[in-house]
Amino acid sequence: MAARKIIIDTDPGQDDAVAILLALASPDEIEVLGLTAVAGNVPLELTAKNARIVCELAGRPDIPVYAGCDRPMNRELVTAEHVHGKTGLDGPVLPDPEMPLADGHGVDFIIDTLRAHAPGTVTLCPLGPLTNIATAIEKAPDIVERVQQIVLMGGAYFEVGNITPAAEFNIYVDPQAADIVFKSGADIVVMPLDVTHDALVTPHRNDAFRALDSKVGHAVAEMTDFFERFDKEKYGSDGAPLHDPCVTAYLIQPELFSGRFVNVQIETRSPLTMGMTVADWWGVTDHPPNALFISDVDADGFFKLLTERLARL
Ligand code: BDR
Ligand code: CA
Repeated sequence: MAARKIIIDTDPGQDDAVAILLALASPDEIEVLGLTAVAGNVPLELTAKNARIVCELAGRPDIPVYAGCDRPMNRELVTAEHVHGKTGLDGPVLPDPEMPLADGHGVDFIIDTLRAHAPGTVTLCPLGPLTNIATAIEKAPDIVERVQQIVLMGGAYFEVGNITPAAEFNIYVDPQAADIVFKSGADIVVMPLDVTHDALVTPHRNDAFRALDSKVGHAVAEMTDFFERFDKEKYGSDGAPLHDPCVTAYLIQPELFSGRFVNVQIETRSPLTMGMTVADWWGVTDHPPNALFISDVDADGFFKLLTERLARL
């Protein structure tokens, strides 16, 4: 089968970085057409820089990296330096990128790419707030029916929230954008906290990255060492969840994951539950399903895939 063409929309972020590395290590299954950076974990200037650092770490300075939106659609930006560090990519010491940003706006790249390819052949992989994707949909509604699938990390149901008691970070940062995406009618697959909280980087799994004894292996181990400190303390768990790589792993080995096709709506008004993903898991409404909400992952299989693929870089 031909490699699946994707655009990764991202706010690196150590876990975004690992998701991007996994995609770039898997050219038989995934063709990365470009990266679009969005403001999220840290401001846009840093996410756009970090995306290029990751491409260069993977030896792929040819991947176009575009800067996208620098703030949510209609509220102030909330960032997460308390998790990811001041740079967003704290942990390993990595050189500043030499590759320049691609000319143009990330939103236009998304629109132009979807219009330039046959309908149903380009998948969007958002790993951060959905600002770029929703802005593209608002600007060019015709792209919705051209998208093959949107496979995103965001939201939660039983796990509820990580940035507020009710909301997951990516959705909380730009709930209006998430609302537009979930109402768009696109084919959506969601990796919520319910599944990413099972993808824990235990010491044993992180040792396997380090044992690759390569630039990438050490960088990934040092990235997870860094953000683990915060999550281990918060959750009292054996390791931190590796959220965003669930998206790119799904494209390579979907059989590692399972979930339910349910109705998902976004809270955009209540200050108490702003950004909550209300998923009709038990089918108690007659609202039509709009997203495949993933709930389970074969965690050992996931880490095996990740380690094997990172070894190729
Ligand atoms: C999500 O928020 C970010 O901090 C991570 O990169 C991930 O995309 C998890 O809630
Ligand atoms: Ca992210």
